[in-house]
Amino acid sequence: MSGFSARRGLWWAEQVPLLSVAEFVGTPTYVYSTQGLVERYQALDRALVSCPHLIAYSVKANSNLALLKLMAEQGAGFDIVSLGELARVRKVRADMRRVVFSGVGKTAEELDVALAAKIALFNVESASELVMLDALARRRKMKAPFAIRVNPDVDARTHRHLATGSRETKFGVPVTEAKALYAWSRGMKGLRALGVDGHIGSQMTRVAPLERAVGTLARLYRSLCADGFGLEYLDVGGGWGIDYQQGERVPTMQTFVDAVLKPLRGLATTVVVEPGRWLVGNAGVLLARVQHVKPSGQSAFAIVDAGMNDLLRPALYQAKHAVTAVARRPGRAREYTVVGPICETADVMAKAVRLSGLQQGDVLAIHSAGAYGMSMASNYNSRPRPAEVLVEGGRFRVIRERETVEQLWRGETL
Ligand code: LLP
Repeated sequence: MSGFSARRGLWWAEQVPLLSVAEFVGTPTYVYSTQGLVERYQALDRALVSCPHLIAYSVKANSNLALLKLMAEQGAGFDIVSLGELARVRKVRADMRRVVFSGVGKTAEELDVALAAKIALFNVESASELVMLDALARRRKMKAPFAIRVNPDVDARTHRHLATGSRETKFGVPVTEAKALYAWSRGMKGLRALGVDGHIGSQMTRVAPLERAVGTLARLYRSLCADGFGLEYLDVGGGWGIDYQQGERVPTMQTFVDAVLKPLRGLATTVVVEPGRWLVGNAGVLLARVQHVKPSGQSAFAIVDAGMNDLLRPALYQAKHAVTAVARRPGRAREYTVVGPICETADVMAKAVRLSGLQQGDVLAIHSAGAYGMSMASNYNSRPRPAEVLVEGGRFRVIRERETVEQLWRGETL
């Protein structure tokens, strides 16, 4: 975790005990650490100092305005995938020249609004999208800056839902097709080839596939430059894995950076990285309160007030988030299955969690929940979504109020 620690029997976000946040704001609540976020961003920025670079934070990981603003203040650019994400980065007055637009299914409206906003780069994923972009740009008498997202046919060796780099997936186009698209774009008045793009998967815990994929991108980049294209960006995507459990071995940030930079040696380009999880995942927790303790054979269920609607990752990807009590109780530890209140058997937050003296009303922290937690939360079971809190030093503030029951039916009619 970044910005979180255990001291004197309590878990803290910087100088704020998590118990105080639960008391003041209630549960379930996402809590993020400013220091954790800033430290990670700055460390990455420093590690990339040897070459021109753009850190385009992947907004989908956590799109809270306060976090986006923090990132923008640090100098981050943004990787967006929808009109909503574009609106969010505009809301925090992000520099549009540092925004790249990814996604396999961009609509004409999305492309057009992004053109008008003068973003840096469209990462195009099909011939059809390229035709659409060209037509829209010509109507605006513009030249749309684009990169083709290459599918390098590489297995990212991650959860099957998170792998995007192999041929069978819907993402990108094969290298040969990419070459043809670049060649074809020469004759299109609304297009300007400006880069090469790829992204092979998320929560990658091995770097060899990444290095191989970037190698493919770099070869294409070189050959396009040799053909006279004035490219500027080589976008290597995101996907860098983090540790979800204490002691879990994942590559260090430097190892990821090396894997990306090695194939680019000698290449004059601005390298674009699109990390989401690596920046925010370990800078956030989800607080939940124990509602009931229910014995079950040798074990017991700790039934908490956060469910799969609040944090979908365990149910969807079998993700294993560490869980701790925010205030340690004396006594012998025993094992609990931490479950939510949702009417689904998959609604398990964590298994085999060792806790001592657990009681009704205790507050638990579900760790590493800063990425793809709140951004994937839903209202399933008509549950209002959690509040979000940002800690800075010894202070904290609510950066998103808890949803109310009335907000659940906003826009519905009787
Ligand atoms: N760039 C592109 C084109 C992407 O599709 C993604 C993530 C990223 C960057 C950022 O990936 P990251 O650095 O955060 O791994 N909901 C899943 C993760 C889905 C990721 C989708 N694309 C989860 O909770 O694990």
